[in-house]
Amino acid sequence: MEEKKEKQILKFPAGFLWGTATSSHQVEGNCKNNWTAWEKENAQRLASEAKDKWQDWQQEKFPEMFDSQNYISDQACDHYNKFEEDFDLAKEIGNNAHRFSIEWSRIEPEEGKFDEKEVEHYRKVILALRERGMEPFVTLWHWTEPVWFCENGGWTNKKSVAYFERFSKKIAESLKNNVKFWIVANEPNVGLGFGYFLGFQPPGKKGPINFLKAYFNLLKAYKKAYLAIHEIDGKAQVGFAHSFVPYESDIFWPIGKLVIFVGEYFSKYFVRKNEGYFDFIGCNYYLRHSISLKKKTFLKENISDLGWEIYPKGIYDTLIRLKKYNLPVYITENGIADCSDEKRGKFIKDHLQFIHQAISEGVDVRGYFYWSLMDNFEFPDVRGFWPRFGLIEIDFETLERKPRKSFYEYGKICKNNILEI
Ligand code: FCB
Repeated sequence: MEEKKEKQILKFPAGFLWGTATSSHQVEGNCKNNWTAWEKENAQRLASEAKDKWQDWQQEKFPEMFDSQNYISDQACDHYNKFEEDFDLAKEIGNNAHRFSIEWSRIEPEEGKFDEKEVEHYRKVILALRERGMEPFVTLWHWTEPVWFCENGGWTNKKSVAYFERFSKKIAESLKNNVKFWIVANEPNVGLGFGYFLGFQPPGKKGPINFLKAYFNLLKAYKKAYLAIHEIDGKAQVGFAHSFVPYESDIFWPIGKLVIFVGEYFSKYFVRKNEGYFDFIGCNYYLRHSISLKKKTFLKENISDLGWEIYPKGIYDTLIRLKKYNLPVYITENGIADCSDEKRGKFIKDHLQFIHQAISEGVDVRGYFYWSLMDNFEFPDVRGFWPRFGLIEIDFETLERKPRKSFYEYGKICKNNILEI
């Protein structure tokens, strides 16, 4: 006979922030940035590479990966025009926070010339959030830049530091009255790794030299932006969203240990180098890296549509390691590509259960942002529109929004500030 499990009621701390995350290029549509031309030039290639990149079951389930249109962001979700409708939906599920990014290429389409109409647009976006009782978390760099910035060498150019500082100052000065939380950069390792080391995404540069130049410039730019925002608003909370990936290995001692050490060392370098320059920790968590000499196979139930292992305990392991910083932590991204929406509700609950456990063991987690509010144009490499991360399904032809079952499941948790399991 099956044992009846008692229901557990897990309460989150009062004032906990519940939200979702998006980024400009992935949802807004019609961006004219460094990705625009690159997408058109690379779409055909990416469509033909899909055959080797994805497994048979993925190819069968998502035939759109063979269509070059899948790799062109184009109108995306048209969130630029539909943000109020989208925020109404987020409000409907009791969200009291929202993370989004400001598209630098809209604000500064030409070097040194700011477009005030676009600044006004983001002011409206922020007010729309405030009117709905949602705390804005504003990202300044989520991997896209103006075309002129890249033509000048992008992050490999020393001047990138001053360019980014100028943009950050402009935004902070213009929007400071209604923004408290600033996420200066999103996943520096991943964004620069794909763009400057592997060449998988714009600007498509390769090799360690490009990567290191870009990395150290972004490190400097981050610090400058941190200081500039604080000078403009002493009460601002400034940080960055980092991709935390716990490393594990079953390779024999001491090789396995060494692999973990090296992986953790480099993946956390940006965090270490910026100590003292972040007011909170932005934690993006999706999966772990298990390094093995054996071929890894996962049960179908334990993977997402992208083939990523579902490993909720990794979020707990990550949070426990962050305790030493003694700072507030926000889960700035966590989510799953799950087109059929069969796994998403459980995915969220399982991760939240581990987050709750970390809180009860003293980690000061203050908010959770599911990635993403809606299906969107996924970075990087060979992905585009087919991986579906949204609580809301988007019909990319009609742009119709259709909330999934998990939208309501997440909503129940947000509204009550309680997870029932
Ligand atoms: C993260 C990115 C985010 C989204 C998710 C799936 O690495 O920050 O924009 O694409 O992956």
